[in-house]
Amino acid sequence: MTDIISAAEEIAHLRSEIERHSHLYYMEAKPELSDYDFDKLLEKLIALERQFPDLVTPDSPSQRVGGTITRVFPAVQHREPMLSLSNTYSLAEVEEFYNRVRKLLLLEGVHEQEMVAELKFDGVAISLLYRKGLLVRGATRGDGLQGDDITANIKTISTIPLRLPDFGSLFAQSEEDEIEVRGEVFMRKENFEQLNESRPEEERFANPRNATAGSLKLQDSAEVALRNMSFVAYYLKGYDDEASSQFLRLKQLEKLGFYTGGHYRLCCELQDISAFIEEWDEKRWKLPYETDGVVLKLNDARLWQKLGATAKSPRWAIAYKYPAQQAKTVLHTVIFQVGRLGTITPVAELEPVLLAGSTVSRSTLHNFDEIQRLGIMLHDRVIIEKSGEVIPKVISVVLDERPSEAEAVRVPLLCPECGTPLAKPEGEVSYYCPNEDECPAQIRGRVLHFASRDAMDIKTLGKALVDQLVAIGLVKDVGDLYALQEPQLESLERMGKKSAQNLIRALAESCEKSYERLIYALGIRHVGRATARELANAYPSFDLLKEASEEELSMVPDIGPVVARSIRDFFSKPFTSDLFDKLKRTGLPLSASEPKAQVNTNFEGLSVLFTGGLDRYDRQKASELVLERGGRVVGSVSKKTGIVVAGHDSGSKLDKAVKLGVRVVSEDEFEAML
Ligand code: IVH
Repeated sequence: MTDIISAAEEIAHLRSEIERHSHLYYMEAKPELSDYDFDKLLEKLIALERQFPDLVTPDSPSQRVGGTITRVFPAVQHREPMLSLSNTYSLAEVEEFYNRVRKLLLLEGVHEQEMVAELKFDGVAISLLYRKGLLVRGATRGDGLQGDDITANIKTISTIPLRLPDFGSLFAQSEEDEIEVRGEVFMRKENFEQLNESRPEEERFANPRNATAGSLKLQDSAEVALRNMSFVAYYLKGYDDEASSQFLRLKQLEKLGFYTGGHYRLCCELQDISAFIEEWDEKRWKLPYETDGVVLKLNDARLWQKLGATAKSPRWAIAYKYPAQQAKTVLHTVIFQVGRLGTITPVAELEPVLLAGSTVSRSTLHNFDEIQRLGIMLHDRVIIEKSGEVIPKVISVVLDERPSEAEAVRVPLLCPECGTPLAKPEGEVSYYCPNEDECPAQIRGRVLHFASRDAMDIKTLGKALVDQLVAIGLVKDVGDLYALQEPQLESLERMGKKSAQNLIRALAESCEKSYERLIYALGIRHVGRATARELANAYPSFDLLKEASEEELSMVPDIGPVVARSIRDFFSKPFTSDLFDKLKRTGLPLSASEPKAQVNTNFEGLSVLFTGGLDRYDRQKASELVLERGGRVVGSVSKKTGIVVAGHDSGSKLDKAVKLGVRVVSEDEFEAML
């Protein structure tokens, strides 16, 4: 057995394990591995594939990590038009549709009318093309005839199979061995909220659908992978088309490994349809994703062709859209929140009211223009609405019910946090607090942004702790975090020795993060993750970035004059230069790291197999150490294996190595070799 053969075996094993765990996680919501252990498996696969590039296949789970940059998405022709659906907003219209279909069926001599009721997912429609079972193309709907080829981005979505099982037997009927699956890419509410939290206020998405549409068009597929989108399939073409029905097709899609949501029902009568619609009006709020209606389709797919379509939508299907959910409540007061960039956001404090499955007691009013537009006064009765957006909003005032004690909402003159007079730049809708150095709300916001997941990812630094650190003046900027000492932390509320140690350790670990992340973590206005990456490429150290002029910055891809000015402004502030004086004393990466120099060549040409557990290294680390020193790591023993490192509880691989006469070393000997 050669090394490449053992690598191939190991790769095949890793792939099937990753696919199995991925299925358990995404499809069955029954994960057996922690995220950390799952990532380790994937990292191992990627490392092995890097070592043996010939073994990389387009359907390997490593392909989901992304990395392809697409500057322009090529236009592609759909095999058949991607139609939309006509919408209805009332049960009466649903009944009209039902009767219309019945008449058309009678003309065809058909007396039975089964319909499938499905949920209408609020996302972005896409088409997937599989050739001989392999995903070869993912495209947007575009104008229905032509869409954009976004294959690289599509491959990052975990619920889209890269390869279909059992291709040979299942698709024998398909002439071109091609099948098409259509469905909706969407973002779960939880992932949407996480994404928004990680973004600068001015770059947040209004709802999961907008976030999905924006994410699918990102040029860097590695960035798309981080967005954690999902896919629900509702259309299958190319498999047993003649004999099939929509209900069976949904079942077939599930067998092929697609997620369908599972909430569809075969309806034999109109009452079944209205029951489904009513049932889901309530239940849909409990789903982890957004749905905005119900889609009704004629079950017998053989009749679709016969019924045909109008220019835009088929005659055999329709979408029923739920009306936006509304509730009436009282506006008690308006409070003013100060964001990390100093922007003042008016927030309505409401009498708690149940709306769309949850209790609402607060709602953003965005800015003062919005308050004027609504004509809202304190103590007014207001209508709040939840439609596509996750967060409900105030949409109108019930003027007839305005109480005599109603009062105008006053624009605050001073910052509610630090008392500084507020400013409103010409042409902007928001007021802001200009005291960026000292306003506690802005400091807190900057520290929380710094610690957030996409920035330095310091999990132990939560809101309650940051509030305290800023309130007692221990932290005035993110540089101060790195000067914190255990005893200072121990004395804080809800902090003990252990939590203090954990935070100090987490801060030390954050120094291992990349220069690019640090640029993003500083929270420069308009600098999101993508811009931070471009900046890191163009200016590999803060010393260079600090000196860049507005003109130079504008030449960096994706950076326009507004962003360039904002970066320049940031670096010309005294507050920033103080910050950098502190950052220099931390171990944070103030420049891009050089590719690691080879430590030594002690393992040059040597293949190493680890078996059993090591006491001082985990497998990943031990493998890296070997790779850095010119060696290779293999998954199974053969005569050609260089050495076998045997830890405790070594099993059959050790026996085999001894039998084959391969050199076996202990952990101590391995360390000495390093
Ligand atoms: S069927 C010809 N089924 O809603 C049939 N569409 O408003 C085409 N949608 O363009 C679509 N959930 O993007 C279908 N269960 C579902 C759906 C669904 C969401 C979207 C789809 C369509 C739009 C029409």
